[in-house]
Amino acid sequence: MIALKLDSTKNATTGDIAKRGGDSRAFVALQRMLPALEAFWESEGAEQAEIDEVMERLQRHWPRLFGLLVELYGDKWDFFYHLEQILMTMVRGWRMRDESLRETDRHRMNNPGWYTSEKLVGGALYVDLFSENLGRLRDQIPYFQKLGLTYLHLMPLFAVRPGNNDGGYAISNYRSVDPRVGTIEDLKQLAESLREAGILLVLDFVFNHTADDHYWAQQAQSGSEEFADYYFIFADRTMPDQYERTLREIFPTVRRGSFTWHDGMQRWIWTTFNSFQWDLNYRNPEVFRAMLAEMLFIANTGVDILRLDAVAFIWKQMGTMCENLPEAHKIIQAFNACSRIAAPGLVFKSEAIVHPDEVVRYVGEDECQTSYNPTLMALLWESLATRDTKLLQRSLARRHKLPQRTTWVNYLRCHDDIGWTFDDEDAAAVGINAYHHRHFLNAFYTGQFEGSFARGVPFQHNVDTGDMRISGTLASLAGLEQAIEQDREDLKELAIRRILLLNASMLSVGGIPLIYLGEEWGALNDYDFVKDPAKAGDTRWVHRPKMQWTFLDELGDDGSIRARIFTSLQKLIAIRKKTPAFAGLEMELIATESSQLLAYVRAQAANRVIVVSNFSEYPQTIDSNRLRTAGMGRFFEDLYTGETITTAKDVQLEPYQFLWLHRV
Ligand code: GLC
Ligand code: GLC
Repeated sequence: MIALKLDSTKNATTGDIAKRGGDSRAFVALQRMLPALEAFWESEGAEQAEIDEVMERLQRHWPRLFGLLVELYGDKWDFFYHLEQILMTMVRGWRMRDESLRETDRHRMNNPGWYTSEKLVGGALYVDLFSENLGRLRDQIPYFQKLGLTYLHLMPLFAVRPGNNDGGYAISNYRSVDPRVGTIEDLKQLAESLREAGILLVLDFVFNHTADDHYWAQQAQSGSEEFADYYFIFADRTMPDQYERTLREIFPTVRRGSFTWHDGMQRWIWTTFNSFQWDLNYRNPEVFRAMLAEMLFIANTGVDILRLDAVAFIWKQMGTMCENLPEAHKIIQAFNACSRIAAPGLVFKSEAIVHPDEVVRYVGEDECQTSYNPTLMALLWESLATRDTKLLQRSLARRHKLPQRTTWVNYLRCHDDIGWTFDDEDAAAVGINAYHHRHFLNAFYTGQFEGSFARGVPFQHNVDTGDMRISGTLASLAGLEQAIEQDREDLKELAIRRILLLNASMLSVGGIPLIYLGEEWGALNDYDFVKDPAKAGDTRWVHRPKMQWTFLDELGDDGSIRARIFTSLQKLIAIRKKTPAFAGLEMELIATESSQLLAYVRAQAANRVIVVSNFSEYPQTIDSNRLRTAGMGRFFEDLYTGETITTAKDVQLEPYQFLWLHRV
């Protein structure tokens, strides 16, 4: 027997329902579905304890979920049918969840906000490029431990369409792994080994689109109306033309506009990204339910953090940009509520590479608990180019804070391009013309600007608007490629310092640092991608090089550049993980006389660290009074070098030097 705890609603009359508003409707709806639930538990022979556990969470989160679903789908004539399907999908998901994952769930429910810990340090990689397959990846766990990683994001590894698959983002089956890298069983085993090694597993939930050869898309192609309704399919250009009046082009070098003509179907398909990635239609509640089932399947392989891909695009509305619409948030919140019920240990990470005002709207305990921080990423590069941190400081002062129990994922490079997504008014406030500045940054990072050290490559240059994004590895963008080519020791030294400076910023400013693997030893751009026809059209492959295991042999040799970057990063990570001040996001900027410096205090209870960074190739001085006041002391130890710093006189920073100061 299943008993709903809110007994007062049991015999609710219409009058009661009206009084109690949405909540009581939620409970009445739930009550009406109890027979279906009971039949399910019975047919499964489930234990009472297991039923009680999920029912308790269901009652807690159901009102919120119900409210969201009513707003999204309440006007459908068969709403109640969909509601029941969604409910059954959740309990089936819970039923399929291994006991070991449920253990973790319980532990995390007792430790809310666990992901804001200073102990989290992430790495991201493509399985095939890093270690060929999942089995061999498991053998590399000691490597991740050596570096100090506690979070591993595997780029999409599910079955994909043949040929170009956008680095795994064109998924043809969410329930099988690309046979070239392994099987679902391998994935589960890897998840288990990672868990034993204290490393979280992060996978993508690519839910804005499927590949054109996904079963649903194939059914649509063979004329199924039911499945055609999973996508946005148009008989002629009327609607696409109307939509395009207000759409932004995301991949303009792939194809103009956001729609693709399908010859077989003689129809236009909505394809925001590549022409083979079909956008899903979340106005159809069946799509929500079907993707919920896929989400829970993925979660149950042993995923700790789910990266929600391309969140901005999941809802369309004629006459708008079809980005960041209120319903997109509701869909994600509804997925969040479902996961609280069926996979409660799971955490979401938002991938919204949009205007900073919009990025934060996805962040919340009830939406995405963590989010990429594209603004910090872009502004760190901006500061490196300009040797000036004023725009970065302004942004940190106003935009770094997030709601309780949420956090940033900070990164320098990822598998994608760099877009200059800072706010134009922030720029204007510090005397920068955003339009010209973006042109300057593009010129600088593609090496077109005189004196530039960077070797980036343009991505998605839009000839109409002049917009462009930048591809390139951390090391190549920071000057190492140029320095090696010119064989100049002085330039190599500066490049290495820039790389470490950016890493030290990412590791200390607040949020989970995320390293794109290869960065840890200074991987350079790999121009060979042009030889592969499936990759040649997409310059992002320039910064997705294959792991060169032989390079690691050099790690013993202290003189090599790779060894120096690796061991320095390893050290920074180790310090971060044992310094409580680096947990959470609490951060206070310290004003300095030079805008080439960036200085802030990180504090957690009594543990305080002052971070001072010099973003220029010239020495800078910081006033010792400021350090004394901010650090509440007169003598400090630099956690990185171990040197003692006295504030008897002003403190000098060498070119690109950073200090992590702790009072002694
Ligand atoms: C995300 C991915 C990117 C991909 C796009 C389409 O933005 O990070 O690599 O191209 O979504 O899935
Ligand atoms: C756009 C999208 C982002 C995606 C990127 C891929 O910037 O907003 O979601 O990752 O394109 O290049």
